[in-house]
Amino acid sequence: MSVLIRGGRVVTAVDDYIADVWIEGEKVAEIGMDLSHRIPQASRVFEAAGKLLFPGGIDAHTHMDMPFGGTTSADDFDSGTVAAAHGGTTTIIDFAIQQKGRSTLEGLDIWHEKAHAKATIDYAFHMIITDMPHERLPEMERLAGMGVTSYKLFMAYPGVLYVDDGTLYRTFRQAGLNGTRINMHAENGIVIDEIIREAVADGKIEPKYHALTRPTRMEAEGVHRAIAIAEVANVPLYIVHLSSADALEEVKRGRARGVDVQAETCPQYLFLDQSWYDRPDFEGAKWVMTPALREKWNQEVLWQGLKLGHLANVATDHCPFCFGGQKELGRESFTKIPNGAPGVENRLSLMYHGAVVQGRMSINRFVELTSTSAAKTFGLFPKKGTIAVGSDADIVIFDPNKVQTISVHNPATHHMRVDYSAYEGHEVQGWTETVLSRGRVVVHRGSLETHKGGQFIARARVGELLR
Ligand code: URP
Ligand code: ZN
Ligand code: ZN
Repeated sequence: MSVLIRGGRVVTAVDDYIADVWIEGEKVAEIGMDLSHRIPQASRVFEAAGKLLFPGGIDAHTHMDMPFGGTTSADDFDSGTVAAAHGGTTTIIDFAIQQKGRSTLEGLDIWHEKAHAKATIDYAFHMIITDMPHERLPEMERLAGMGVTSYKLFMAYPGVLYVDDGTLYRTFRQAGLNGTRINMHAENGIVIDEIIREAVADGKIEPKYHALTRPTRMEAEGVHRAIAIAEVANVPLYIVHLSSADALEEVKRGRARGVDVQAETCPQYLFLDQSWYDRPDFEGAKWVMTPALREKWNQEVLWQGLKLGHLANVATDHCPFCFGGQKELGRESFTKIPNGAPGVENRLSLMYHGAVVQGRMSINRFVELTSTSAAKTFGLFPKKGTIAVGSDADIVIFDPNKVQTISVHNPATHHMRVDYSAYEGHEVQGWTETVLSRGRVVVHRGSLETHKGGQFIARARVGELLR
């Protein structure tokens, strides 16, 4: 298969020019001012004048087919990656889970089974570590050798995914020695559980108490502690789903004293706020996620953090649960609402709208935040994360003018297997028209042209390149 894309505006994290792009098989083979001599050889030609060409989006934080909160996230690797592709994402990094007391390698096998032959776009795995006794530490090197070069640990969810500070230190230290990275869910879950107990005892059980029992100071404390432990253990740290100005302040402090800490935020913390929990008839449950949505003023602080580089990446934390049958598990108490919300399909359009159309930052920074930065941080670059000769032909042809209203009722914006949209009614300018994943045309003008065929990508270690 060979594809010629003619006359598009190629935008990467550093470039911005009009060119033709020639793709042979899975790779970008040539970029030039005029490659029309290739037309006779091309299996497919796309006329992209007036369109933007972006490297395929990389969503470094998804939870497909994840058992959580007494149920399982509603998208599996089939529906979730089809939805991601429609939204211009061509690689996800999902979280495999170690069951407590069992091997992390067994956890990895389970996630390979979940994804194998189901995914439409490429995927990689982080490993969630739920315990790490000394004798299990060698497993981490084996994981790294198999391309799983980052681990997520939780200070939140006591009794479920939470690990204590000793486990944090032990795991951080080993990850650093192996040349790998730690992802941290930074929130003081132990204190938060006490606050929850007080609230429930007072009869405060509606969805809004999910937010009111998780103060931003407890997120900031977690970030501070994670940075301190990473500093001592000498490991690169990545704070996931950072949601508040208080937490961002701790990241800035750590970076100012030279700690290798980065952080991601998510569209929900940039576009939604705590007032969503006040919706009547239990509807606020749709936005019960952790960390919780924050007071609105935090949003502009996070946007500024993205612009100035204090925040490195935007991922979705896509973890969808249907309102009917899943979120409803918590009608009696917010503590029983499965935590998580959908978004893998909406990230690029939301971010293009908020970052570029609304003038908050350059188009190159937008590409960096939605693709290149994740590729570099998580060992996928330069195979992924840019448009360059020799890189995978993961390319989005993007219409910068098309306006859509995101809605569960708008088939153009909703392919996720979940019965609501977290961004219902949001109007966005900028739309994914065509998506190539390793040279395969996956989506064209809203239609899925190639189903399945996504591959597992074994990632490189910190500072190494992936070809
Ligand atoms: O509410 C969320 N974020 N659910 C997914 C699990 C996690 O903490 O990332
Ligand atoms: Zn988390
Ligand atoms: Zn998550």
